[in-house]
Amino acid sequence: QVKKRVFSGIQPTGNIHLGNYLGAIRNWVGAQDQYDNIFCIVDLHAITLPINAKELHQNTRKLAALYLACGLDTRYCNLFVQSHVHEHAEMSWIMNCYTPMGWLNRMTQFKTKADENPESVNTGLYCYPVLMACDILLYQTHYVPVGDDQRQHVEITRDIAQRFNSLYKKRVFTLPEAQIRDTGARIMSLENPSKKMSKSDPNPASRINLLDEPKVIKQKIARATTDSLRLVAFDPERPGITNLLTIYQMLTGQPEQEIEAEFAGKGYGDFKAALTDRLVATLEPIQRRYNEYINDMVSLEGILKQGADRVRPQATATLNRVKEVIGL
Ligand code: ADP
Ligand code: NA
Repeated sequence: QVKKRVFSGIQPTGNIHLGNYLGAIRNWVGAQDQYDNIFCIVDLHAITLPINAKELHQNTRKLAALYLACGLDTRYCNLFVQSHVHEHAEMSWIMNCYTPMGWLNRMTQFKTKADENPESVNTGLYCYPVLMACDILLYQTHYVPVGDDQRQHVEITRDIAQRFNSLYKKRVFTLPEAQIRDTGARIMSLENPSKKMSKSDPNPASRINLLDEPKVIKQKIARATTDSLRLVAFDPERPGITNLLTIYQMLTGQPEQEIEAEFAGKGYGDFKAALTDRLVATLEPIQRRYNEYINDMVSLEGILKQGADRVRPQATATLNRVKEVIGL
């Protein structure tokens, strides 16, 4: 039984927060040996919006170090940088010529990002879904783990692949499927628990970043929104304390009743102190490993180069097949 191939694109933008970790990264780290995983740090996608050169270069390395620190194991996973495998860019030009403009006009993410950055809308931002389709199709991917907001991208990838296959009456591309993983609970903003914790939230105190120091974690949890009831219990009517309890539960693995019993008769202060301790204990080893990777850039570059070397033959094979079919 050959393992199914899973492709994940990772944006080299800033930091990773607790929501990303508990909702996504921790889950796939736990299941990584079940699949043939490809993790691609998508720096070619990052340049569709204005980004400082040094920052882009550093973010790419930081993100690789952070994923490795979270437990990504290169025995099961291929981790590489998109621009290191030039087949992505080459294939992207070719597939631009096989993607009707009408399909791109319908992509909602372009509209959102263009509205947010009216000064800097470029052609790359518009063609972004084609590059993303190529990322996936180059590796004959079976599954693409996505959130709801990314479903449309997997759909257009399938459409592009299907159109090409039927145009040339050949199965050049595997049709990928969106994999909606069971993410468990959604972690909410510490400031406003009706919104999810997100890297795009303008208030940095609304999220715990994986690289936050213990002192910062303590401050953020201390300031986290609760209510005046002073009752440490899960209650959908009280989203603030429930969110903190959910985080605690995901860190400890305890059932709800056990946690409520533990804090019966105690105040939010006691609970927040216990939550802070758990968070620090979970993040400390990740931060220690992160520092080891980031302070040994030669080894880190070596890991990324090896990752690119490992995936490149498949990318080359797909691209060569495409060129042959087209007549290039
Ligand atoms: P962000 O909202 O911070 O931009 P992304 O959209 O880049 O995060 O999501 C990356 C991954 O992390 C996705 O798999 C998503 O489902 C997961 N994720 C993001 N935010 C949360 C959250 N608050 N709770 C649970 N999972 C989350
Ligand atoms: Na997002």
